[in-house]
Amino acid sequence: MTADSAAIHRCVTAAVARMSNEPGPLLEILHSVQGELGCVPAEAVPLIAEALNLSRAEVHGVVSFYHHFRERPAGQHTIQLCRAEACQAMKGDALAEFAKQRLQIGFGQTREDGKVTLEAVFCLGNCACAPSAMIDGQLRGRLDSEALADCVKSWGVPA
Ligand code: FES
Repeated sequence: MTADSAAIHRCVTAAVARMSNEPGPLLEILHSVQGELGCVPAEAVPLIAEALNLSRAEVHGVVSFYHHFRERPAGQHTIQLCRAEACQAMKGDALAEFAKQRLQIGFGQTREDGKVTLEAVFCLGNCACAPSAMIDGQLRGRLDSEALADCVKSWGVPA
């Protein structure tokens, strides 16, 4: 068992011990694992499945269904761009295209230099200030490409 494997095993075991008797514990366990490890690594899936008497496919299905869960750790910075209707209607599509071009990655990806992860989210509850994004955990409204470009530049992402 590698050091990473040991950490994953320990993290899953602790989360299962805390939450397996709760109703519908899978999501709670996944949140806990991601909170501690920064993602839900593939190696955690069979451990969680076995502990909850589920199939690996069921656990993997939940991890991949919810955009919130990551299978790999995020980069140093995270941009979660809202792709839901109100934001799309306020030039969100153009902003999404700009983000992908500027970062040279698609949604759900991390730049090769590890500086930024770009993720799609679906409504941040900030529709009145669309288009919205969560940037390093901070809610931003009325975001435009200039503000996004400034932000990315400040992180030292080469143009
Ligand atoms: S639709 Fe984007 S914040 Fe609600």
